[in-house]
Amino acid sequence: MAPDIDINQEYGKMFPVIINFIMSVTVYFITVRLIPSLKEKFIKANLFGIDMSKTTSDKVPESLGVVVGCTFLITMFLFIPVPFGHNLLRSKTFPHDEFVKFISALLSICCMLLLGFADDVLDVPWRHKLLLPTIASLPLLMVYYVNFNVTTIIVPKPLREWLGLSIDIGLVYYIYMGSLAVFCTNAINILAGVNGLEVGQSIVIAVSIAIFNIIELYGNLWKAHQFSLYFMLPYIGVSFALLKHNWYPSSVFVGDTFCYFSGMTFAVVGILGHFSKTTLLFFIPQVFNFLYSSPQLFKLIPCPRHRLPKFNSKTDRMEVSITVFKYCDLNILGKLILVVFKILRLIQWKENDGIVVTNNFTLINLVLLYFGPLHEAKLTTVLILMQVLCSILAFVIRYPFAWVFYDI
Ligand code: UD1
Ligand code: MG
Repeated sequence: MAPDIDINQEYGKMFPVIINFIMSVTVYFITVRLIPSLKEKFIKANLFGIDMSKTTSDKVPESLGVVVGCTFLITMFLFIPVPFGHNLLRSKTFPHDEFVKFISALLSICCMLLLGFADDVLDVPWRHKLLLPTIASLPLLMVYYVNFNVTTIIVPKPLREWLGLSIDIGLVYYIYMGSLAVFCTNAINILAGVNGLEVGQSIVIAVSIAIFNIIELYGNLWKAHQFSLYFMLPYIGVSFALLKHNWYPSSVFVGDTFCYFSGMTFAVVGILGHFSKTTLLFFIPQVFNFLYSSPQLFKLIPCPRHRLPKFNSKTDRMEVSITVFKYCDLNILGKLILVVFKILRLIQWKENDGIVVTNNFTLINLVLLYFGPLHEAKLTTVLILMQVLCSILAFVIRYPFAWVFYDI
């Protein structure tokens, strides 16, 4: 006998996604044309940067993330009637909780876009930067509290003997969700400095999340994954448009606005779609880069304002950028970290008369340490390919390996 397929459910599942896809393709074409037309306006408004890896010192418009963020939000606003329209006519069955979830997700993303833009304009200091995503995630966390308030986590199989099947971690779960937003936003921002990298890595993460959602669209939790796809497809559309102008040689810079907007969008779908652990799995290079950078971020090792690789105009290649300091200025923890990194062959180091010369601790520099100097476009390509490989690894961990830890 043929399987009993609920035609109405299949229609309700696929129809909004198809419309969303068509709108995403449309917004790509609109954004791709809009960006160049706004370049001069950004320069006039003093929103520009100098490309440190070029011989020219032309003004490159900065913070174009605000344009793609706006076209994304407009697409999402126009899309609202598609999944909710037929319910609007029958007010009794209107899914208020679904609607609030949708609106609060947009509110958090919108709030992050505004704070990211404020950061680009006002150049907020580092410790304040950490606060911005926490503030922007508040609307989301409040809706989570009112709508779900599920703070129970399933314990991995090997630990069940001691902890039981599940534990309610209460407030800690909210701290975890807030931290996820802080991590996702800042992790993208610090893996940056070569043309196309901020957008390139974000597109790989977004496509990975979208593939995961499409696979899960055939599972029991399809609604959560459909919700995530509504956000991911337009995000991919506007980001590809930005990449077209930000790829080597960049004619626009994305700004912190884009990094924050991207990180928040990923955190929002991960939290509200209940797949935050899987979202984090798609951040393997960013997690590594964050851990590797942490001695500099937490000032155990001196951290220059810019850690991007050094451009050699004679060879037209990017080289490892360095930091120079007195060994005796380091505290015991800083000295210990240097020893561990040296043993693990994570750093290049020279010492002369107590003056240490070492590379800046970023994944970009590490790639250059192992591959040797590379052309900027090639360096970005290598880093994006690494992101793709890590996404494949993430799928292997999420599917075949997850059986080891969970009953799924
Ligand atoms: C983060 C990094 C910093 C890196 C910078 C590059 C940390 C702690 N901070 O700082 O090390 O140098 O990003 O984005 O890791 N730029 C280029 N080419 C590019 C992209 C950017 O030359 O492809 C330069 C431009 O001058 C641009 C500036 O970087 O104006 C933007 O830097 P900004 O985003 O303000 O730096 P942060 O995010 O604070
Ligand atoms: Mg930045």
